[in-house]
Amino acid sequence: MQISLQEVAANAVQARSRIRHHIYQTPLIPARRIGHDQGAKVLFKAENFQLTGSFKIRGALSKLSSPSAQGPLITASSGNHGIGASLAARVLAKDLTVVLPDTIVQAKLDKIKSFGVEVILHGVETGLAEQHAQQLAASGSYNYISPYNDAEVIAGQGTIGLQILEQLEEVANVFISMGGGGLLSGVGSVLKTFRPETKIYGVSASNSKALAASLTAGHVVETDHFPTLAEAVAGGIDPDTITLGLASAVVDYVIECNEAEILSSAQALAVQENIIAEGSAALALAGFNKVAEKLTGQTSVVLLCGGNVDHDYIRKAATGLAQKAKIRRRLEGTTSGAAGGKSFAAAVMVLTIDFNVQALVMCDPKGRVDTAVVAGKRPRTVAFANCFNAVTSNGVPHYAAASTIADVELRFMARNVPKRAASVVSVLTEWCIIAILVKSFQVVI
Ligand SMILES: Cc1ncc(COP(=O)(O)O)c(C=O)c1O
Repeated sequence: MQISLQEVAANAVQARSRIRHHIYQTPLIPARRIGHDQGAKVLFKAENFQLTGSFKIRGALSKLSSPSAQGPLITASSGNHGIGASLAARVLAKDLTVVLPDTIVQAKLDKIKSFGVEVILHGVETGLAEQHAQQLAASGSYNYISPYNDAEVIAGQGTIGLQILEQLEEVANVFISMGGGGLLSGVGSVLKTFRPETKIYGVSASNSKALAASLTAGHVVETDHFPTLAEAVAGGIDPDTITLGLASAVVDYVIECNEAEILSSAQALAVQENIIAEGSAALALAGFNKVAEKLTGQTSVVLLCGGNVDHDYIRKAATGLAQKAKIRRRLEGTTSGAAGGKSFAAAVMVLTIDFNVQALVMCDPKGRVDTAVVAGKRPRTVAFANCFNAVTSNGVPHYAAASTIADVELRFMARNVPKRAASVVSVLTEWCIIAILVKSFQVVI
């Protein structure tokens, strides 16, 4: 069965009238920092704050409130659809079984169980859990509900597009993470129907990219599935999925992001925007970051599709931050410059005070290194110029790197810190970062 974009949009309008009293109108939050360097306006559609912690409640409620959802129901999920469907089943008094991969995030499993639905664990990735649910349905005991390959589910996700249209007069670009493609199909169909000039970016995790590969091939293909921070979008897709035709009709650009890019976007959300989102939401931001340079003067919506994180995810994010500090230290260690260890120690000291820190490392053609710590909003131009000139007076700097933990203001030139202090402070710092982050994430949870 193929379905047109206009039909999806019409279904979304109907779905909204069925589900609007059960869901939140999530805010479009202007970015505090992200996009500023490129002069690009960024708004976060905050479905991480949606009821159940993700947009999935929309599709689940849409489906379970439609005439097609009769009898004992069975569905499969990487987690968020399972949470949404379980709440929907409770609200609408439906009999639901949820099949989940063995690899499901513990926090998501706990939430699903808390709704009192039947749970079956099967397979190492969502595609296998889906196949198992389909087999059980084929035996005649259940009515199968796909988490993405279903017109009513897609219509429910499309209600996000309707909200964006109401909340924003003009939007040039929308960044949407891709799993099975229900989210992309729903939101994309609504936007392309009512505001066709909007560019739709489908963002895929390189480690699990069945839909992206299928879009390239023009038919459904299977890919390897490696672990990813964006576990919610991982897994294979149905060979007959209606989302492939819809996705290829709505998507203007497909962007793939690797784990480092997803991690650094998750950290940017936490540190620069005060937003805790799950890896699949960070994925959409990673997609924006990859093309941000080209979006100067335009308004972009980054769809933060979910916020269901657990401690393991937080640990990875926090460890990632600590690793950034380590990388800087290694960079210093490999250089012959006298300022090396000393300047890094100073950088680390600021890091313990707040996260608003960047290390700027410059190296002249002879391999001599100078390092400055930059933080805050405006560069203190004199000090910055001095630092820069110290390098350029010997020739053009051929390496300049600034890690983006922070805003840009030169706070001080890092010098004169004893080496022994350097190692003590850096170890302490890594622990501090982890402790502070874990604490703030726990508050949010
Ligand atoms: C948080 C989150 N984002 C994105 C997706 C991808 O949605 P879809 O499978 O409709 O592409 C999912 C799917 O479970 C999800 O849970």
